[in-house]
Amino acid sequence: MELPRGKSYIRLDQISQEDIDNLILRVNSCTWRQTFHIQPVSGLLNDPNGFCFYNGEFHLYYQWHPLGPFHGLKYWYHTKSTDLVNWENVGIAIKPDEYFDSHGAYSGSAVEHDGKLYLLYTGNTRDENLVRHPYLCIAQMDDEGNIIKSKKSVLDKVPEGYTEHFRDPKLWKVEDRYYAVIGAQRTDETGAVCLLSSSDLLEWKFEGELATNLDNFGFMWECPDYFEMDDRGILIFSPQGLEPEGDLYQNLYQAGYVLGEKIDLERRQLIHGDFVELDRGFDFYAPHTMKDPSGRRLMVAWMGLPEIEYPTDINGWANCLTILRELTLRDGKIIQTPIPELQSLRKAKTEAQGELSDEKKVVEGFSGVTYELICEFERGDALEYGIEFRASDTEKTVIKFDAAQGKVIMDRASSGKVIGSKHGTERKCRIDGDVYKFHLFVDSSSVEIFVNDGEEVFTARIFPDIRSQEIRFFATGGRAKFKAVKWDY
Ligand code: FRU
Repeated sequence: MELPRGKSYIRLDQISQEDIDNLILRVNSCTWRQTFHIQPVSGLLNDPNGFCFYNGEFHLYYQWHPLGPFHGLKYWYHTKSTDLVNWENVGIAIKPDEYFDSHGAYSGSAVEHDGKLYLLYTGNTRDENLVRHPYLCIAQMDDEGNIIKSKKSVLDKVPEGYTEHFRDPKLWKVEDRYYAVIGAQRTDETGAVCLLSSSDLLEWKFEGELATNLDNFGFMWECPDYFEMDDRGILIFSPQGLEPEGDLYQNLYQAGYVLGEKIDLERRQLIHGDFVELDRGFDFYAPHTMKDPSGRRLMVAWMGLPEIEYPTDINGWANCLTILRELTLRDGKIIQTPIPELQSLRKAKTEAQGELSDEKKVVEGFSGVTYELICEFERGDALEYGIEFRASDTEKTVIKFDAAQGKVIMDRASSGKVIGSKHGTERKCRIDGDVYKFHLFVDSSSVEIFVNDGEEVFTARIFPDIRSQEIRFFATGGRAKFKAVKWDY
């Protein structure tokens, strides 16, 4: 089955089972299928939605277009887990089959209320001229996992002053009232976040725009998320339309946060510092958080971006979610660490250490396709040091520290199949002091690199040949010591 992109609003039930089975066969024959990341059984995944803990289990939904690797008619797909590592595919959660979501059940979030899980999402519709009319919609899930959509939407008109780009509500509760931030575009085509409130999740009041000091910051803010930590207020969002500035804003669209005082709900105001990108890599968008029962703030994101073609497209699927990261604050900055639960995936362990100087060190037993690798470095007088991985004679992905520039550099120019190259093949980010640790999670077609215990993270899809498995440690222009441990996954 080859679904033309123009037919992208075709529903799953309009396709024969045989076509679906053939599509899934094609997907499963792809050598770049991931092994420990959430990925779609077929078609395209994008934003994580509705991440929550309900009735003794973690639930994580995502935007799904089942029929091919492009942004067609979106469903909410449901996965759940008891350990945050092994996720069970539950199936479709929300079908776009009503007047208020006819062209897609778009992003949203979840909160528990009166024993049920409420899913607040965006109903995307288009009229005969293809003009969008967004709705805010609600569905309820009971403790047996049955999901029922409300028969009418809870907000059916975009408030005055905003365009049809009004979507992605993220819920939280303050005392006995529910609030939601929602991504918006003003009629002058600048991005903003608005605030809604409700006492029962069924009747919603439009409170107005949230005042920030970013009045002219891109043309649309997608997927906002507000939460508090250590008495600070944090607003995450994904602004579209920022121009590259030095090492910053290199991807097509960005994802980051502002941090400041707690939100002033009365005045609808957030006093905050500068916008900071959450990830310095190539493929990271629409991050979404939740507070788990032990009080940790956990984040997951789409490991991909809109409008990028991936080499898995020919196999009928695209994209995956990131591993889960815990967020904490250190010196006024968000620190991201991989959740320790991932350690349950660790299998065979290999260790190595030594001194490097103007040579590439290949260590016996250090190779692989899916693994976790922690490498600690101690700089002597080296100018650069780092790691080449998923490497062969012709391919390599490189992460390194350039001491002269004080920058971490990721290079995927030779990572295998080329992706998104019009946005460049290198990503850089300044670091205070030396890099003392790179912590990598490498799956069949991705890498997530935590620098200095989560001070910065570089996330990227990579598509090397299955035979490119070498791991090499290196230093140039002087000496550096390294100590590495790897666990196969
Ligand atoms: C972000 C986004 C959201 C929208 C969803 C549709 O990637 O464009 O704004 O709700 O994807 O799938």
